[in-house]
Amino acid sequence: MKEIPDNIDTSHFWMPFTANRQYKSRPRLLAAASGMYYTTDDGRQILDGTSGLWCVNAGHCHPKITAAIQQQAAVMDYAPTFQMGHPLVFEAASKLASIAPEGLNRVFFCNDGSESVDTALKIALAYHRMCGDGLRTRLIGRERGYHGVGFGGIAVGGIAGNRKHFGPTLAGADHLRHPLDIAKNAFSRGLPEHGAELADELEQRLLALHDPATVAAVIVEPIQGSTGVILPPKGYLQKLRAICDKYGILLIFDEVITGFGRLGAAFAADHFGVVPDMITCAKGLTNAAVPMGAVLVRQDIQDAFLDAAPENAIEFFHGYTYTGHPLAAAAAIAAIDVYTEEGLFDRAAAMAPYFEEAAHQLKGVPYVKDIRNLGLVCGIELEGVPGKPGTRAFDVFLKCFWEKGVLIRTTGDIIALSPPLIIDQLQVDQLFAAIADVLKTQKAIPAAEHAPA
Ligand SMILES: Cc1ncc(COP(=O)(O)O)c(C=O)c1O
Repeated sequence: MKEIPDNIDTSHFWMPFTANRQYKSRPRLLAAASGMYYTTDDGRQILDGTSGLWCVNAGHCHPKITAAIQQQAAVMDYAPTFQMGHPLVFEAASKLASIAPEGLNRVFFCNDGSESVDTALKIALAYHRMCGDGLRTRLIGRERGYHGVGFGGIAVGGIAGNRKHFGPTLAGADHLRHPLDIAKNAFSRGLPEHGAELADELEQRLLALHDPATVAAVIVEPIQGSTGVILPPKGYLQKLRAICDKYGILLIFDEVITGFGRLGAAFAADHFGVVPDMITCAKGLTNAAVPMGAVLVRQDIQDAFLDAAPENAIEFFHGYTYTGHPLAAAAAIAAIDVYTEEGLFDRAAAMAPYFEEAAHQLKGVPYVKDIRNLGLVCGIELEGVPGKPGTRAFDVFLKCFWEKGVLIRTTGDIIALSPPLIIDQLQVDQLFAAIADVLKTQKAIPAAEHAPA
């Protein structure tokens, strides 16, 4: 391993979604990675309970993916895909289409999840126009939804902190309520029983208010990940699909975290048996080894663009310099091969019951107020410290990292776990035991320290 200098100047890098001052007072540095583990700059092994950021689904530094990138870097570093092409990008698109839900066989490549969301929203708006239905300009997302950080994504996203500093964003975006209901569904195993009727408010509240003829698309994460693992109640996604069909509205699943095996199937759409009109994905697409995102699109949607434009004309005025970058395309081909050859989606499905059992062993551990799980995803919601939201979970995160050698992720007072699909039973045990141990040693906050209500 390359030696890390101990005099790193941390001041220049403006870190994303990070408390910069706090981080830089005691940096947490990862220097190498292999399989289920990171190695820190001081040589400690850290069990990765979060697949990096929900993205390294096949485990770190998979030799086949590493080799594919290295090989391609020496053959051709870059080729444009505007009016040009290279073989790997077509192969990557075909490979991705081959594992996509039936009918979603057209692929637009971009560089990450945020771009995939903005691309899908633009396709939706332009599609209706191509079909002579240019009145459809509204986009519906969901409260607590995370769709990346582009202006389109934050407009349909529902996280206040990600929106409030940036003005009104897109006009015409509105939001469904989120379906988290701890009072009725706490400690559900798998999908919650209560709340499917919340999908009806798409029709009864939002379409009634705005006129269905003005709505272009509804975008939802099948599982809301970033705001703490919010699962769709039984029947909820089916209802959304039916309402969108009834009114000619496109349904987009944002599968940036659920794609590539997280729920034990290639996509959440397969797991739920609900096929949207478009899927946005990224992260696991290349096993995170090179940035890449993609939108999977129904063929007839692309056909509408091709039919509407004059021959020899560009049909869709959209794209990125790095759309289908050769290194990303090589990584995507290799990653999808690894997923299929090693049966990793089935492996995740097989491990899910053990993971669920281990997760729910934390019921009764101090401060645990809900546990939510599906596939290899788990959210553990904690009672927060009064007046100091997020501090309890963040403290657990720090102790897991420094004292237990385990990487978890937190959002507010919720711990979100999403380990690589190669995790074994001992590692599952280690992950949950670390969290339980840390919670058991959390001190109760004396009443005097409570902030006034
Ligand atoms: C559902 C969802 N959509 C979009 C994004 C944005 O992806 P990126 O950070 O690659 O832009 C994320 C990131 O976590 C996500 O979870």
